[in-house]
Amino acid sequence: PEPAASQAVPQAGDPALVLLRRIGVVDPSSLDDYRAHGGYSALRRAFALGPAGVIREVLDAGLVGRGGAAFPTGRKWDATARQPERTHYLVCNADESEPGTFKDRVLMEGDPYALVEAMTIAGYAVGAHRGFLYLRGEYPRALHRLEHAIGQARARGLLGPDVLGQGYAFDIEIRRGAGAYICGEETAIFNSIEGRRGEPRSKPPFPVEKGLFDKPTAVNNVETLVNVLPILEHGAAAYAATGTGNSTGTKLFCVSGSVRAPGIYELPFGATLRELLDLAGGAPQGRTLRAVLLGGAAGGFVRPDELDIPLTFEGTREAGATLGSGVILALDETVELPRILLRIAEFFRDESCGQCVPCRVGTVRQEEALHRITDRTGDAAAADIALLREVGRAMRDASICGLGQTAWNAVESAIDRLGAYK
Ligand code: NAI
Ligand code: SF4
Repeated sequence: PEPAASQAVPQAGDPALVLLRRIGVVDPSSLDDYRAHGGYSALRRAFALGPAGVIREVLDAGLVGRGGAAFPTGRKWDATARQPERTHYLVCNADESEPGTFKDRVLMEGDPYALVEAMTIAGYAVGAHRGFLYLRGEYPRALHRLEHAIGQARARGLLGPDVLGQGYAFDIEIRRGAGAYICGEETAIFNSIEGRRGEPRSKPPFPVEKGLFDKPTAVNNVETLVNVLPILEHGAAAYAATGTGNSTGTKLFCVSGSVRAPGIYELPFGATLRELLDLAGGAPQGRTLRAVLLGGAAGGFVRPDELDIPLTFEGTREAGATLGSGVILALDETVELPRILLRIAEFFRDESCGQCVPCRVGTVRQEEALHRITDRTGDAAAADIALLREVGRAMRDASICGLGQTAWNAVESAIDRLGAYK
C-alpha cells in the first residue's frame, strides 16, 4: 500500500513543506510535470556555481546527514572532491531498513526525479561520473518509479555523457538490496555492490578516502540529498534560517504506533516532540501515552513528562535519546515493554552479520538474558541486568560497526529511563 505522507496537517501542497512539497502534487512518472513544479532549476544553479561553489553552499547551509548520524554533508563532499585519484563515486544509501523508518520510501515513490536531480548535483560536486543508488529490496514501487525517471532523464540529456550540454558526464545505476539490514551500513553497501558478502569494513579509512572499489566515495542518504535542492534553489542563508543553529532546515519524521494519524510529517528542526505528537492526533481515545521510542531499534526512550524536548540532533542527545533517522514510535499503556525489548534484541541477533565476536556473541547473550528476565522479576533479575550491562558495554566498545555498537541502546534506555523490569 501507499504509505501515508502527512495525513494530518500540513497537507500536500502546504507552503510550509519543503521536502514533501511535491508529494501528492507532482505526477511521479512525468519529467515535464517535475519541471513544471520547479524541477532542474537547482541543477542549473549548480552548473553556474561550479563544484566548489556547490560545496560552499552546502557547507554554509549547515546540512547534516539525515540517515541518522548527522555528519556534515559539505565536509563529506569536500573531503571526497579533494582526493587526488581520478575516479570518484557517489552512492545514495536508499536501503532504508531501520524499523519504523519509511521517509525515503515516500520521497522516492512520490518525487523520484528530485532524487535523480539531487544525485546529479552531488556527483558534480564531488567529481563523480557514476552514481549508485542502493535501494531496499522490499521497495518495488520505488524501483519502478526510479527506473522510469532515470530512463527519462537519460533520454532527455539530463543524465549521460553531456548533462544539460554542460560537458559533465554522469549516470546512475540502481542496485537492489536483498533484505539484509546490515547492507544499509555504508561499507557493507560497497561490498554488496562489488559482489562480495555484505559485511561492514573497518573505518577508518573513511569512504571519502577509500570507498567503493577502493576509490573516494561520497555516501549520502536519500533525504540528505533531496535537501540539496532547496539549498541551491533558495540559497544557503534562506535554508539555514529554518531550524536551529546546529540542526538547520526541516526534518521528516516517521510517526507510528499509538497515535491517531500515523505517517510522515515534515517540521522545522526545533519543533517539540509534543507538537509533533499533537499533529499526529495524539493517543487514540481511551489510551494513555506511556513512552516514545526515538531513533528506532538503536535509539532510546522518552517519558511522557519529557515531551517538550526539541526535535534536534543536539536536543535529543541531551535528553539521553537520539533523533537517528526520524523514528517516532509512540507506545501506550497496553504495550508490554519487555516484549518490545525482546523483539528488538531478537532483531539485532538476527541481523548481526556475525563478523566480529562482541556483536555476534553479545546479541545472542543479550536476547538470552532478556528471555530469562522476562520470566522473573525483582531481585532474581538483578544478576541478568548486571550481565546485560557488561555485554552491552563490550558490544558498544568493541564492535566494528554501528549495529553492534548500538544493539544495547534501547534496552539500556528502557532500564535506566523507564524502570523496565522493576
Ligand atoms: P558514523 O558516525 O560512523 O558515520 C556517519 C557518516 O560520516 C558516514 O558516512 C561516515 O563515513 C562519515 N564520517 C564519519 N567520520 C568521518 C571522518 N572523520 N571523515 C570523513 N567522513 C566521516 O555513522 P554510521 O555508522 O554511518 O551511521 C549510523 C547511523 O545510521 C545511526 O545514527 C543510525 O540511526 C542510522 N541508521 C539508519 C538506518 C536507516 O534505515 N536510515 C538504518 C540503520 C542505522
Ligand atoms: Fe557484523 Fe555486528 Fe560486527 Fe557490525 S558489529 S560487523 S553487524 S558482527
